[in-house]
Amino acid sequence: MRLNGLNCIVTGGSSGIGAATVKRFINEGAEVLIADIDIDSANSLAEELGPAVGAIKCDVRIEADIKAAADHAYNRWKKVDVLVNNAGSELNQTYDKTTLEEWDRVLDTDLKGPWLMCKHIVPGMVKAGSGSVINISSLNGLVGFPLSTAYGSAKGGLVVFTRDMAIELANTGVRINCVCPGVIETGMMDRWTDLMPDKVEAQEMLKGTMPIGRMGTADEVAGAIYFFASPDSSLCQGSVLSVDGGFTAQ
Ligand SMILES: NC(=O)c1ccc[n+]([C@@H]2O[C@H](COP(=O)([O-])OP(=O)(O)OC[C@H]3O[C@@H](n4cnc5c(N)ncnc54)[C@H](O)[C@@H]3O)[C@@H](O)[C@H]2O)c1
Repeated sequence: MRLNGLNCIVTGGSSGIGAATVKRFINEGAEVLIADIDIDSANSLAEELGPAVGAIKCDVRIEADIKAAADHAYNRWKKVDVLVNNAGSELNQTYDKTTLEEWDRVLDTDLKGPWLMCKHIVPGMVKAGSGSVINISSLNGLVGFPLSTAYGSAKGGLVVFTRDMAIELANTGVRINCVCPGVIETGMMDRWTDLMPDKVEAQEMLKGTMPIGRMGTADEVAGAIYFFASPDSSLCQGSVLSVDGGFTAQ
């Protein structure tokens, strides 16, 4: 129970990597607030997991929603110990066919959202003199791919944002780090393979891109997120951890 007594917010915590993180955190003794645009799924997960988990509707693209989530968390707990910026939105499109609306959706969810969450949550952590922020980027934030200009720009931006924030926060007792998952079996990956002419072939192709020969699981990523939330990562500040079965080692 390494997170005993800690209060945590997980954006996009109702499914995939976020939901696995919520489960891992409460198994380690934490309380969690899920902040998700999909409030029905967030509510049913909270109901399933019991009183240690709450849910609030929050579109991380909208500052008023984030402020409401931050107020809710600070009213309920007085302090927030861990913030996981996990909510994400993907796009597979060439740079010239990407619409302004698609670009804004991806950049606003995957980059502006984490900044706004930090803006409204981190000052309270600084005041308390402790806290841990974990940003969920992607291998798309580290290497180039086709059809990835919007998503890759957002995720690459999130890596650099993490490092810049790490320096700004270095003397405050608040840590900020970043996890870059590889190909992980979640709803997001399912939506991506749905777009391909042959779903099974696409899944096999994805497995083939991973040196370990399989996709990762949400639980495996949650383990890395847990590491940054726990005191075991006390020396990590601005760290960028690939959790990708060897993809970026190539
Ligand atoms: N699955 C992968 O292979 C993979 C790889 C690298 C990085 N990631 C990143 O991991 C994170 C989690 O993705 P996942 O695979 O679990 O996908 P997922 O689709 O299962 O979960 C995404 C969650 O974010 C929520 N969300 C989406 N837009 C939102 C918004 N505007 N405001 C609040 N919540 C919103 C969704 O409701 C959902 O609960 C994302 O940031 C994603 O980019 C995933």
